[in-house]
Amino acid sequence: MKSTAHIKPEGVEIAETVLLPGDPLRAKFIAETFLTDVVQFNTVRNMFGFTGTYNGKRISVMGSGMGMPSIGIYSWELINVFGCKNLIRIGSCGAMQKELNLYDVVIGMGASTNSNYASQYNFNGTYSAIASWDLLNKAVKVAEEKNTPVTVGNILSSDIFYNADPNAMKPWMDMGVLAVEMEAAALYMNAAKFGVNALCILTVSDSLITHEETTPEERQTAFTKMMEIALELA
Ligand code: HPA
Repeated sequence: MKSTAHIKPEGVEIAETVLLPGDPLRAKFIAETFLTDVVQFNTVRNMFGFTGTYNGKRISVMGSGMGMPSIGIYSWELINVFGCKNLIRIGSCGAMQKELNLYDVVIGMGASTNSNYASQYNFNGTYSAIASWDLLNKAVKVAEEKNTPVTVGNILSSDIFYNADPNAMKPWMDMGVLAVEMEAAALYMNAAKFGVNALCILTVSDSLITHEETTPEERQTAFTKMMEIALELA
């Protein structure tokens, strides 16, 4: 039976398509709200994972934890040990452009980063971490069909939530980077390294420009728009 230090499914299936919210309780909420025939496949470290059915297709949903080390571990194992092929992060982000409002949906075509994650590959230059074209193309089409406006572009995967430098985000903003989150770049690199598909779909939870923010209660329901796009990608 396949098992790792962090994921012990004890024979329960993990689907080829996995949605990865940061919060394991959001994974539970998604499984309970949107899926049928749900089985739980992980409880290790309370990083809950579930497999269920959506529109007749099997799909899994599991917490990724916060930050690139955490999603780096879980996505590596899902890909290399459990054979997952489509890994879709669904999360929140801080808007870095004034055109973006709270609850807008952002899709990361590319993920810039201030992390050292890429150093493991010994690049003699800077690697562009990008989304899977297949998943991105499909997500944009689904959004159009559902009349859900989405903004597609570059996002920043940051190692730092509480930055000591109050101006640290300015150079990224000046390059048109849409929003900041903390996981996509590692997910995109792991997917590229092992030849599978990854995408990151985000909902704006706060703005680094206007300093508005959402409450946790508001987020739970507002994230439905993003979830409905992600679920169609199975
Ligand atoms: N920074 C990093 N990650 C985030 C933010 C932020 O401001 N908002 C939501 N996720």
